[in-house]
Amino acid sequence: MITIKNLSKSYGKTEILKNISFDIEKNDKLLIIGPSGSGKTTLIRCLNKLEKDYQGEIIFKKKNIKDIKDELLRKKIGMVFQSYNLFPHLTVKENIELAPSKLTNANKEELSKKTLKLLKSVNIEEKINEYPKNLSGGQKQRVAISRTLANNPEVILFDEPTSALDPESIKSLVKLLNELSKKATIIVVSHDMSLIKSFASKILFIDKGKIIEYGTKEEILKSTNPKIKKFLK
Ligand SMILES: Nc1ncnc2c1ncn2[C@@H]1O[C@H](COP(=O)(O)OP(=O)(O)O)[C@@H](O)[C@H]1O
Ligand SMILES: [Mg+2]
Repeated sequence: MITIKNLSKSYGKTEILKNISFDIEKNDKLLIIGPSGSGKTTLIRCLNKLEKDYQGEIIFKKKNIKDIKDELLRKKIGMVFQSYNLFPHLTVKENIELAPSKLTNANKEELSKKTLKLLKSVNIEEKINEYPKNLSGGQKQRVAISRTLANNPEVILFDEPTSALDPESIKSLVKLLNELSKKATIIVVSHDMSLIKSFASKILFIDKGKIIEYGTKEEILKSTNPKIKKFLK
């Protein structure tokens, strides 16, 4: 579904991603894992066209993403940001309906119906008229997820989704990620090792901008690579 070919990316003179190549299949639950500063966020920002200045190619369903309009690509490959990026002056409902009300010709009633359905699917329908400041971290994240789901994405990128959550909320997030994976390809960037067991079907292990290993969960857990063994400990 996505092919990444010889991807290199620099900021100034510093090379952040170094000749990265791998394939993502349609039903993958991909966990991109590695130490802080290894280039994980940069990599998924390239997939979403938030970074365009790189060498190499990213192919999505046989098309170079450079040939797909940004807005269209970001609907198909949605991103849930680490900081959620909700508008503080808008309610949950308004946050979710802002883009669709501008971009589609759906009427108010249709939009409302869809919003309620989305919020129900992530279990926060009772917060529909709240402002973000009155929500917990986990609830804000669910609003951000609903907003992404409104575009019916084929791929959803999550940047460090567990980092701001308490253990109980992590459990429900993992459950939600596994549910979402039935409808979309899920790519999670994290340094949370518990996601290996609870979520991943495939793991890309990166360090200092290079792929250390890529494979199924079983392959990575059996890896004899000293860097991975050290990280897994
Ligand atoms: N906009 C930027 N300008 C310059 N350097 C950046 C920028 N964004 C990230 N970096 C650097 O790129 C490296 C990788 O960052 P990042 O992709 O955020 O790593 P990770 O998500 O794995 O922690 C870091 O050294 C970071 O300081
Ligand atoms: Mg990061």
